[in-house]
Amino acid sequence: MDKNNSSENQEQEEQVVNPWEVSAKGKIDYDKLIEKFGCQRLDQSIIDRVARLTGRPPHVFLRRAVFFAHRDFNEILDAYERGEKFYLYTGRGPSSEALHLGHLVPFMFTKYLQDAFKVPLVIQLTDDEKCMWKNLTVEESQRLARENAKDIIACGFDASKTFIFSDFDYVGGSFYKNMVKIAKCVTYNKVVGIFGFTGEDHIGKVSFPPVQAAPSFPSSFPHLFTGMDNLRCLIPCAIDQDPYFRMTRDVAPRLGYHKPALIESLFFPALQGETGKMSASDPNSAIYVTDSGKDIKNKINKYAFSGGQDSVENHRKYGANLEVDIPIKYLGFFLEDDAELEYIRTEYGAGRMLTGEVKKRLTEILTEMVERHRRARAAVTDEMVDAFMAVRPLPNMFR
Ligand code: TRP
Repeated sequence: MDKNNSSENQEQEEQVVNPWEVSAKGKIDYDKLIEKFGCQRLDQSIIDRVARLTGRPPHVFLRRAVFFAHRDFNEILDAYERGEKFYLYTGRGPSSEALHLGHLVPFMFTKYLQDAFKVPLVIQLTDDEKCMWKNLTVEESQRLARENAKDIIACGFDASKTFIFSDFDYVGGSFYKNMVKIAKCVTYNKVVGIFGFTGEDHIGKVSFPPVQAAPSFPSSFPHLFTGMDNLRCLIPCAIDQDPYFRMTRDVAPRLGYHKPALIESLFFPALQGETGKMSASDPNSAIYVTDSGKDIKNKINKYAFSGGQDSVENHRKYGANLEVDIPIKYLGFFLEDDAELEYIRTEYGAGRMLTGEVKKRLTEILTEMVERHRRARAAVTDEMVDAFMAVRPLPNMFR
């Protein structure tokens, strides 16, 4: 009986998206996800508004709908238009030594938002979360948090506007008070409903969501936002993080805060094809910021799923299937020149351009990007990490 029920449930759940699992039978259906989660699609009028308010062209991730969904982003823009500021909050669970390209996407976008809106940013490193979920020791999680902080700093954040913190170091004081207030508003049934915890899960997991919720409220950072309890918060993240913030938004009014706004991205597809998030356990499913030019070339040539036809004759005749082609998807993220992307899509789709040529262009772009990141990361010193992570006021954070 029980068994039947659970297999039935699995058949109904053709896709699973939560902070710990992203899987689908075929491609992720993002329209369905928007509907199920209850967020809104980011439409052209909002993108135009961002361009107008910031006086800059919209970021490529907005133009290409990589960031495709939101909650109350329009309210952030309304307030900004009235001259009110906000702060940005994002984070990373430090579960691996090296980041892959998908990990960089939210940070590249957050850097753009920080520059365009000239607002402060807090970055949470959830070393506690990864310690509890990934079976890492406390010490190893803390070490990874610091290593990952270097990659994050290498994305170019402004030290005069950015506070990076590790949960193990920072949780306490006002932050902890907010955690407790949040926890008191959420029943056990509620977290089970949102996150799907079972009786077999250890209680650390059940108690974690308030840790990720607390940075959404300005009073968690008294060294930055004392006297600014009305300050709004905007969270750029991948859409798998939405459950945490659905919970946060639910409790916010009861604690007297604005609900945090969200701007949410697609998942970055694995080299093997678009069926979910990349798997950290298969190094050939992703390109890492530590890969050499040769690694990148090999991975793209060997593993990147191609929508090209099986023979040159057929390819010339039928053209490539752009819908499933991974090199085209990756170019959509990282080739900034709209005209060149359009040209490649047209020529490749019509069979005049071959898979090898598209892969070659992608290899060039990613090699350059990874090289640039590597140089930037090598320039990040321990002193810089300490400076970003110091609990300190940021007097120029809105300038
Ligand atoms: N839970 C996220 C992860 O595993 C890390 C995180 C914490 C985060 N706070 C965040 C991500 C806010 C986005 C926005 O990667």
